[in-house]
Amino acid sequence: MGLRPPLRVAVMVSGRGSNLRALHEKAPEQGYVIIGVVSNNPTAPAVDYARDQGLAVRIVDHRQFATRDAFEVALAAELDDLAPDVIALAGFLRVLGTDFVGRYRGRLLNIHPSLLPAFPGLDTHRRALASGARFHGATVHLVTDAVDGGPIIAQTGLTVNPGESPAALAARVLTLEHALYPYVLGGFARGETSDR
Ligand code: GRF
Repeated sequence: MGLRPPLRVAVMVSGRGSNLRALHEKAPEQGYVIIGVVSNNPTAPAVDYARDQGLAVRIVDHRQFATRDAFEVALAAELDDLAPDVIALAGFLRVLGTDFVGRYRGRLLNIHPSLLPAFPGLDTHRRALASGARFHGATVHLVTDAVDGGPIIAQTGLTVNPGESPAALAARVLTLEHALYPYVLGGFARGETSDR
């Protein structure tokens, strides 16, 4: 078996950055390298973390662009300069348009805090509890035009505890996310995922 160079991963963030941290910490064991972090939010805690870790950070602040198209052209320019094999959305809070998604088809991933196709969109934990769902979890999927609707690559689940609060459920799902996302990128790095 020949040696593969590590998979080059760019991570796109907007907020807290706990998935970014998990992806970064588990990169060596999974055979990928984070070559840059792109954020639309210059003050995101995820950006602070990336800078502290010495990761390359590219800020593309959506508020500085007149249109979504112009914002996404600038995002793509930064990404193309980083030259990633795979782009991982990790709490990136802007919906991406057709041209952007099409440009990175098959190598643009997202993690979503539900067992898709159940509960696309926001506020998933509260909605899962309100629906009486017995099982809940997280999904890594390819990004397409359909928000939270692209092909599913992997899922991880848990049993909802009786009387559990949305916050408690969110915390347990987040722990699962932190294991799942690096594992999926490891699969890409090992060539196990056919879309690469
Ligand atoms: C996670 O729950 C992820 O599934 C969703 O947004 C949240 C991001 O959290 N897409 P963090 O910024 O990675 O802590």
